[in-house]
Amino acid sequence: MGVQHENSLALVTGAGSGIGLAIARKLGEKGFKVAIGDLKNYEESAENLRKLGLHVVGLPLDVTNWDSCSEFVEASMAHFKTDHVDVLVNNAGIIRDSLFVKMSREDWDAVIKVHLYGAFNMTKQVVESMISKGHGRIINMSSLSWTGNVGQANYSAAKAGLVGFTKTLSKELGRYNITVNAIAPGFIDTPMTRTVPDKIREKFMERLSIKRIGEPEDVANLVAFLASDEASYITGELIGVTGGLTF
Ligand code: CAA
Repeated sequence: MGVQHENSLALVTGAGSGIGLAIARKLGEKGFKVAIGDLKNYEESAENLRKLGLHVVGLPLDVTNWDSCSEFVEASMAHFKTDHVDVLVNNAGIIRDSLFVKMSREDWDAVIKVHLYGAFNMTKQVVESMISKGHGRIINMSSLSWTGNVGQANYSAAKAGLVGFTKTLSKELGRYNITVNAIAPGFIDTPMTRTVPDKIREKFMERLSIKRIGEPEDVANLVAFLASDEASYITGELIGVTGGLTF
């Protein structure tokens, strides 16, 4: 498997920690050259993966900022001496949970910007090089919350938006041999979900079919498959990694 991807570049946003970091590690283990982009922890996370012998660079990235995205993509390609990106994982995400009646405009904007502007900004930067190459994989991190979850009007709207974005791009880009898929993780153990109140965590645990909280690696395994040649006929899909959880 390693050999299959040894000249391929994968960009993973929000990969300083959590699911993104697990994805960076898994893709690195599969032989990809990987660029980790995040607001923080990108250097030390990349350094830790390099210690495992993986080809990883960590660079600053604010997905809400067009210029930052452009600089990240340029610097990633320059670092690995390549002129195209093979895999883009739009993983960066935040939560600002509150009941809608209490939700501030700032919390609405912040969540919409990171997920939807973030995916737009990053995908625009790489799509032309994928088209020229006649190959590409775009993987968008949606969430089970896209189905609607109390306290998450902003996040649910953003994650549902990513589903529409994914399905539309899959139709437009399929002719260039670019697949575009979305993943809907359920309750995964990350720094983000550790902020969820205990009362709510317990409710989630009761509703799981597989009686454990998800691990970032559970999601990373699916990303690695979608990025591989074995997944070349899968596009426009939203695939859950939920342990059977429903909201
Ligand atoms: N359905 C309907 N109404 C509800 C409700 C529910 N499930 N939960 C709360 N409410 C309403 C009720 O009127 C409730 O009053 P009672 O307690 O008297 O019944 C009222 O809200 C107040 O509830 P809280 O005391 O919990 O209010 P709060 O303002 O302190 O917090 C909240 C509200 C922010 C939504 C909080 O409950 C919360 O954080 N919920 C978790 C949201 C959540 O599921 N986040 C998922 C994080 S994991 C993730 O996002 C990763 C992923 O991709 C899946």
